[in-house]
Amino acid sequence: MTRPRIARAEALAKINRELRVGPRRSDGYHEIRSRLVTIDLSDTIEAEEASEFSLACEPPEVPADRSNLVAKAALALAERLGVEPRARLLLQKRIPVGAGLGGASADAAVTLRLLSRLWRLPVADADLAAVAASLGSDVPFFLFGGECDVGGRGERVAPRDSGPPEELTLLVPPFSMSTPEVYAAFDRLGGAATPPERLEIAESGRFLGPNDLERAVVAVRPEMADYLALGRRIARECGVTGSGSTIVLVGARTDALAEFLTAHAGARALQSRTIGREEYVRRTAFSGDATPRA
Ligand code: C5P
Repeated sequence: MTRPRIARAEALAKINRELRVGPRRSDGYHEIRSRLVTIDLSDTIEAEEASEFSLACEPPEVPADRSNLVAKAALALAERLGVEPRARLLLQKRIPVGAGLGGASADAAVTLRLLSRLWRLPVADADLAAVAASLGSDVPFFLFGGECDVGGRGERVAPRDSGPPEELTLLVPPFSMSTPEVYAAFDRLGGAATPPERLEIAESGRFLGPNDLERAVVAVRPEMADYLALGRRIARECGVTGSGSTIVLVGARTDALAEFLTAHAGARALQSRTIGREEYVRRTAFSGDATPRA
């Protein structure tokens, strides 16, 4: 009897170096212009051949039902390819959820690549891009990783050469933020005319540029003002990533963080660094063997 194959890969998180947002479009999404870069913070996904589809998550509080973007990705790929979704998946979650770090989107993109390898069904790049875009606005970026400019609602991805690695501190509050809620607050606060033609970081020489959602993030969660005030006080640069709740600090005095973390129960500071495309491709690539899981 042949033993089931296992494929395994890391799914790396992202931050937005800059996020510019235009007006709400007729389809409900906003036109954006952003620079994204992958970082050294990851989930792990394991896929094993099986007679039917299942998903398990660690820790067990992570929902393993069909609302999980990993399940949605597997089922959407199977449908696109006209096959049964025969796989047992295990998601080990470490990327904070609802934190603007793209964890669920990263998981979905890696699941698409893993399953096309496991099922030995090569998928055309255009098909992969279409399935990715149907799963969420950030998913197409994670088919590339490294540093990219993105446009449209997120589905237009232009890979760039990665700069030198940048050391980062991630200040992660003990609460998550809802992306639709933040975009709705953005509209209530007056929205935007059009996103600018060029990103500010293209000229400023800084690592971080503006995040147009920042005011909306603070409107939805007023405590975020405290976290931003701390970031501005103790770091050379600081900004919200995506629709929050994580704040990215560059050049942070980490000694100054300890007191704040003690006063804000549940808040965490994680050290990370940017990951270029070469390392991204290596770490998210299929690694596997023919040995079944013990
Ligand atoms: O594409 P995704 O499912 O990640 O988007 C979640 C929600 O975020 C959308 O339903 C929309 O309310 C908002 N969004 C947006 N404009 C974008 C991306 C997301 O308004 N470019």
